[in-house]
Amino acid sequence: MCGIIGYIGKRKAIPILIQGLERLEYRGYDSAGVACLPIAKFDRSTDGQEGSGSIHPRFCVYKERGKIAQLKSRINHGFPDAHIGIGHTRWATHGAPSKVNAHPHLGPRGQIALVHNGIVENYDELKSELKRKGSRFKSETDTEVAAHLIESYYHGDLAQAMRLAAKRIKGFFAFVAIARSEPGRICALKRSNPLVVGIGRGEHFIASDVSALLSYTKNVIYLEDNELVELKSDSIRVTRIGSRKRLKKKVSRVDWSVEEAQKGGFRHFMLKEIYEQPRVLEEILEKRAVGKNTIEFDTISAKIQSRLKHTDKIYMVSCGTAYHAGLVGDYLFEDEQLARIPAEAHVSSEFRYSAPLIGRNDAAIFITQSGETADTLAALRQAKKRGVLTIGIVNVVGSTIAREADAVIYTHAGPEIGVASTKAYLAQLMTLSLLSAYLGVLRGRLSKSQLEKFVREAKQLPRKVSEILQNQSAIDQAARALYRKGHFLYLGRGYNFPNALEGALKLKEITYAHAHGYAAGEMKHGPIALIDSEQPVVCLAPRKSRTYDKMLSNIEEIHARQGIIISIATENDQMIKRRSRFIFWIPNTLEQFSPILTAVPLQLFAYKVAVLNCRDVDQPRNLAKSVTVE
Ligand code: G6P
Repeated sequence: MCGIIGYIGKRKAIPILIQGLERLEYRGYDSAGVACLPIAKFDRSTDGQEGSGSIHPRFCVYKERGKIAQLKSRINHGFPDAHIGIGHTRWATHGAPSKVNAHPHLGPRGQIALVHNGIVENYDELKSELKRKGSRFKSETDTEVAAHLIESYYHGDLAQAMRLAAKRIKGFFAFVAIARSEPGRICALKRSNPLVVGIGRGEHFIASDVSALLSYTKNVIYLEDNELVELKSDSIRVTRIGSRKRLKKKVSRVDWSVEEAQKGGFRHFMLKEIYEQPRVLEEILEKRAVGKNTIEFDTISAKIQSRLKHTDKIYMVSCGTAYHAGLVGDYLFEDEQLARIPAEAHVSSEFRYSAPLIGRNDAAIFITQSGETADTLAALRQAKKRGVLTIGIVNVVGSTIAREADAVIYTHAGPEIGVASTKAYLAQLMTLSLLSAYLGVLRGRLSKSQLEKFVREAKQLPRKVSEILQNQSAIDQAARALYRKGHFLYLGRGYNFPNALEGALKLKEITYAHAHGYAAGEMKHGPIALIDSEQPVVCLAPRKSRTYDKMLSNIEEIHARQGIIISIATENDQMIKRRSRFIFWIPNTLEQFSPILTAVPLQLFAYKVAVLNCRDVDQPRNLAKSVTVE
């Protein structure tokens, strides 16, 4: 995890670094820091160290435990005039969240300053070696070890020192460093973790992702693994770690606006993102469902199309909310009214360490909002080694998974900032629904008229999601009545079983209440023991479902034991209404689309319970938006 940033140019570096860090805060927020090289003597005492007899100014380093706001309020008391600097927002891996463990870290003589996203796996061994040579460490971090290692190779050429250090480091990283005696150059290198260079006029930026750069530039260069970049205010030089030959890199243009990445009047990003869902669905449909009975995926080439046509099985691999999208995908791909392809959804962290019987004729789909999740990326690389067709369903354009998969289907949800995924999830569900219909046509299972009906109903979904958003009084009532409860059960069947898991995940991640999602048919095998008059049970029971009657029986069973029933049901379903303490209505739709609708009240319920409990909705404790460590 962690977010990193660097700036070199004519402007004051510190405000740029702080603003960039604020945009990267979703990547981790337990401590933050910046280091810069002031252009003139700056008298304020800092956490930095004095170098030995150098004419160059020493580093000014500011670090604080907690969020960027803490760091900002300290810096606001006065900061040096510097035109080069680096910054970091941390999600602790090695060492507790504390000021001393916060980045940047300096080398032993204060010659270099370093920020890092990733893990140095052999840091213990390197630390002992450096200690034997006289290094004394202040922090418990692997990053300080890397800073000492780089400085041990430093003889006036930072890029060279980083190349040599990289050879010794096992693990994965994105490093950004500056050297005290080279005030005109930032050096950065990456292995696995993302880095993107922002190109300005007479200035350059580097960051973990584009959201940190959008206020300054839309022209970017994505770095690949084992590339090293040297940034001066007027030049960019990219080489491979092991070579000095300059690489020609493509400049990409990012089409997200700064406004898109900001709150737009909503109290929280999560709420804003929930409200953006009708528009997100509309955009996907405009792009993919181009005619009344045509679905297009512009990035699926003829070659990939023909492999998909003959695919034996589809694996879906993902984490967290994206895993729940994979589970819905499982029902969609196997649906006899759609593609009817054997499918299996896996959690990335399990998949990468298992030995799946995956054949050359299979396809693997990697579903990810960020495109950077470490386990999903590792699983993708493994699948590629096995020679299977790999497809990324990805939100962040240009992210690592988007670049490494054989084909990428973007979900076009725009930037998602709230840690709890909402609009990216609906975008994944919509994309998977359309993909399964597309494959149904490709494999000759779905006729044009069946597809037409499917597309017609899909096009109603943005309006139906808007309707849910317009009537939230029952959700408000339920949240007010239940927000102090510590345990919730979520039950669903078939297409809505994954949403029982997703509803429970949303609630626990942002409210810290315990919530458990179950396949409703499993209720009799354990969870029923929990039910008494104090137990809230959220039941997902849309009418158009093969298992509607079964769900109704489950509701009866909970009712008989006085459980507090909160139902999500199709408008006017009086049968369910009679049994429910609270009922969240959704419009009628095809069974295959029902998860797109049932997800919305689940998101709103979790959001409202979190707000009533005064939780940090957008940045819940211990979590990060993009999990780039195992
Ligand atoms: C984290 C986020 C979740 C997300 C999961 C997978 O846990 O908090 O919202 O679903 O990572 O992330 P990805 O970017 O791969 O979808």
